[in-house]
Amino acid sequence: MATAFFFLLMPFFLVPASTHLQSTEEGFISTVISEKGLDFAKDILIEKAISSLTPLYLPQIEKTLKIPLVGNVHFGLSNITIYRVDVPYSYVNPGDTGIAIVASGATANLSMNWFYSYRAWFVTVSDKGHASIQVEGMEVGLTLGLANQQGTLKLSLMECGCYVKDIDITLNGGASWLYQGLVDAFEGQIKSSVENAITKKIKEGILKLDSLLKSLPNEVPVNEIVALNVTFVEEPVLSNSSIGFEIDGLFTAADKVVSSGNYFRNSQLSASCKGPVKMLEISLDKDVFNSASNIYYNAGLMQWIVDKVPDQSLLNTASWKYIVPQLYKMYPNDDMNLNVSLSSPPVIRSSPDNIDSTIYSDVTIDVFGDNEIIPVACISLVITASGSVGISGNNLVGSVELVDFTMSLKWSKIGNFHMYLIQSVMRTLLKTVFLPYVNLHLGRGFPLPIIRGFTLQNADIFCASSQILICSNVVFADSYKPKLLPYDPTHSLLDFGF
Ligand SMILES: *[C@@H]1O[C@H](CO)[C@@H](O)[C@H](O)[C@H]1NC(C)=O
Ligand SMILES: *[C@@H]1O[C@H](CO)[C@@H](O)[C@H](O)[C@H]1NC(C)=O
Ligand SMILES: *[C@@H]1O[C@H](CO)[C@@H](O)[C@H](O)[C@H]1NC(C)=O
Ligand SMILES: *[C@@H]1O[C@H](CO)[C@@H](O)[C@H](O)[C@H]1NC(C)=O
Ligand SMILES: *[C@@H]1O[C@H](CO)[C@@H](O)[C@H](O)[C@H]1NC(C)=O
Repeated sequence: MATAFFFLLMPFFLVPASTHLQSTEEGFISTVISEKGLDFAKDILIEKAISSLTPLYLPQIEKTLKIPLVGNVHFGLSNITIYRVDVPYSYVNPGDTGIAIVASGATANLSMNWFYSYRAWFVTVSDKGHASIQVEGMEVGLTLGLANQQGTLKLSLMECGCYVKDIDITLNGGASWLYQGLVDAFEGQIKSSVENAITKKIKEGILKLDSLLKSLPNEVPVNEIVALNVTFVEEPVLSNSSIGFEIDGLFTAADKVVSSGNYFRNSQLSASCKGPVKMLEISLDKDVFNSASNIYYNAGLMQWIVDKVPDQSLLNTASWKYIVPQLYKMYPNDDMNLNVSLSSPPVIRSSPDNIDSTIYSDVTIDVFGDNEIIPVACISLVITASGSVGISGNNLVGSVELVDFTMSLKWSKIGNFHMYLIQSVMRTLLKTVFLPYVNLHLGRGFPLPIIRGFTLQNADIFCASSQILICSNVVFADSYKPKLLPYDPTHSLLDFGF
């Protein structure tokens, strides 16, 4: 029964079905990552790239050089390790040709072993030691392509380059002639070795990031009734300062049997973020909520038997003795049930400063007679409620308040009775049973499609006539760090985690 009422989350987000029949191609949830958001993501990516890059082992370098007065000297560098990389400056730039990420002025520290040997007369002279290298002014640039491939994102590395401007070799031990010889002989090779290794590592990293994107689920389970379809539709839109994604965004029935109906996206954007620039904009079309409401309704879940209330005496005909005397007369001291059944999927109106909803329901009064449940009367209720929405974690949540309600007697087996007589009983039931129950479920809400590890922060919500817009920053949860190593395929970076 608990989940049966989850549907009540939905009514308060609903607005009447759109009459704009437009392309179904577009998604019902749109997400835009702003420049600020891209910078934030880029910083995390670089941080993760660096931590997965180090330590990086480069291949051994050996060569034989002819040194005047000495002869042929065999030099070698082994165990060449990049153990630290610092990126002081970086930027990300989306554009028509892809997403460019540039790390500039980067430095790296390397350690290595050196050795040499040569034959002088009949003796072999050899020595070895340790060396440290500082790489200065390293530029790393890459351009990423992002495309929609059958509903998932395809990330490709379109260009990648690494350029080392300068290196500084410090030898521990060794003669000065050797020092100079090493610098001259190996500088170019070390530079290109560093450049190749970093480029190769980036290529591997992007492949792994791509396979993580591929493994993104295209459906987020919400509960046993509905799931959210998070299939990407349309190509990502790369503007010069932001990236936009369209997500199908409709709820689907978990059992795949119940229909959520057909929807047509009204592509007019009616709301926009106001105030300080946020990292993320998520806009949800009204039909996101409509689709869930319809599934619950079509699955027959918008019905509720009320058999427990805070004041249990209300569910006995004795309490109705004075307000509906004939009920008590026919069924003295019998227990009662209320069968609440919505007569249509709830409708909600949304305007920039208010969300309100009208719920049409039938409340059947059932009396426990001798070994049978007897429906004795049915009251049609039209409830007007006002709603508000908020963010809790990564969930969109809501709450409602009763504004007003009207009643009419639909049918009765106990004769006519005046609605005003039971007005206060109904109000009590709505306020103490119906709304708290609705709010319990609205309070849980449903998950927004946010990548695991990220949490919305300082979200603002704007309502408009056909959509709800969430403008939010995100924080990155440290506890998820192990899962976010971009180059570790055993950890899922981009799971939608709820
Ligand atoms: C290779 O380098 C690493 C890191 O600099 C160091 O821990 C290790 O002892 C070195 N191995 C040899 C054989 O020198
Ligand atoms: C790494 O290299 C930079 C210069 O590129 C230097 O300032 C720094 O001290 C080095 N760090 C370590 C741990 O060797
Ligand atoms: C980005 O695009 C907007 C409008 O599309 C334009 O006004 C702005 O100058 C562009 N910025 C850059 C850096 O190209
Ligand atoms: C999810 O959305 C995609 C794209 O709109 C659609 O092709 C697919 O059929 C939907 N999945 C379900 C289960 O409805
Ligand atoms: C509750 O009422 C609806 C109609 O109002 C009816 O279809 C349904 O069978 C009733 N449920 C029970 C358990 O009596």
